[in-house]
Amino acid sequence: MVLITGGTGLVGAHLLLHLIENGDNVRAIYRNAEKIERTKSVFDLYKKSHLFESIQWIEADILDVPSLEVAFIDIEYVYHCAALISFDPKDEDLVRKTNIEGTANIVNFCIAKQIKKLCFVSSIAALGDLAAHETIITEETEWNPEKPHSDYAISKYGAEMEVWRGIQEGLNIVIINPGVILGPIPKSKNTEQGSAELYTKVANGLPFYTLGSTGFVTVDDVVRIAATLIKSEIKNERFTLISENVVFRDILNTIADALKVKRPSKHASPLLMKIVWRIDWFLATFFLKKRQITKATAKSSYTKDLYSNEKIKTALNIDFRNIHQYIKEVSTL
Ligand SMILES: NC(=O)c1ccc[n+]([C@@H]2O[C@H](COP(=O)([O-])OP(=O)(O)OC[C@H]3O[C@@H](n4cnc5c(N)ncnc54)[C@H](OP(=O)(O)O)[C@@H]3O)[C@@H](O)[C@H]2O)c1
Repeated sequence: MVLITGGTGLVGAHLLLHLIENGDNVRAIYRNAEKIERTKSVFDLYKKSHLFESIQWIEADILDVPSLEVAFIDIEYVYHCAALISFDPKDEDLVRKTNIEGTANIVNFCIAKQIKKLCFVSSIAALGDLAAHETIITEETEWNPEKPHSDYAISKYGAEMEVWRGIQEGLNIVIINPGVILGPIPKSKNTEQGSAELYTKVANGLPFYTLGSTGFVTVDDVVRIAATLIKSEIKNERFTLISENVVFRDILNTIADALKVKRPSKHASPLLMKIVWRIDWFLATFFLKKRQITKATAKSSYTKDLYSNEKIKTALNIDFRNIHQYIKEVSTL
């Protein structure tokens, strides 16, 4: 049997569907029964509602060790997708605790229960920092603790350290480092989760674009590759999962065209972004508003990061789905 953490999230829900379609017996953990509906809505969206009942749900929190005991009974493979994704400085402690301590708990159970292989869903945020002579970030690029990193990046890097520690204790692992993961377009216009937030902002008439870039990947590719890696002979390695490096303006334009709304037309320069995050901090601090943009998100909006996907393409002899084509397709679901 296969255990999935984060089964109520974007990646976990798609992974559950993919694994069931491929004949696996799956168990998923949840914290709040209402969130299970989100997973059901993913199955409904792809007209696979009949497969939803195959999931065995167990209530557990990755920070609550006793609750994980039942979840690990008779488990052979584990996909650890659960994490807290937040760039809001007020979430710093919880982000670090959930992502590092939570991953340490999962690794410890995998060792104790002699799991065959753990697939850990990390992030390109945990990859290294380019040195002066380097141009593209790979799995080998070294993390430079002197460089500024978001709390989220530090937490995913710390989580990877826990997974690498597992190898020393006899565990077989594989780590995937996806870029920004694009999933289906949500039906609700108020969704504020992951890529759904990107779609929602464009749908609601986002006026600004930036000229930074990063790696993007579809959720379909993430789950397909994770499932292939866990059953392969490959072990104790990490792989960057991006389809391509895309400029934010271009991705926003593709989303706007797919949703048939106006494209963002005003360039938000790095200077403007620096002013905006400070205003946002002021409003959040003095008027108790939720942070919309932080120093870290402002910086990434104009940073031009380039990531290489050569390692995974060569290891599995695969190619990625085209991001722009994918967005067009999911807009018609
Ligand atoms: N989305 C992206 O663009 C992206 C990019 C690169 C890497 N990643 C990584 O991919 C993984 C999956 O991301 P996602 O987009 O699917 O995230 P998501 O939609 O926000 O889902 C996060 C999942 O983690 C669960 N979770 C959080 N804290 C937990 C805890 N203490 N105990 C048990 N479960 C907990 C959540 O459960 P609840 O429903 O109960 O909150 C939810 O199921 C994460 O590790 C993330 O770091 C994501």
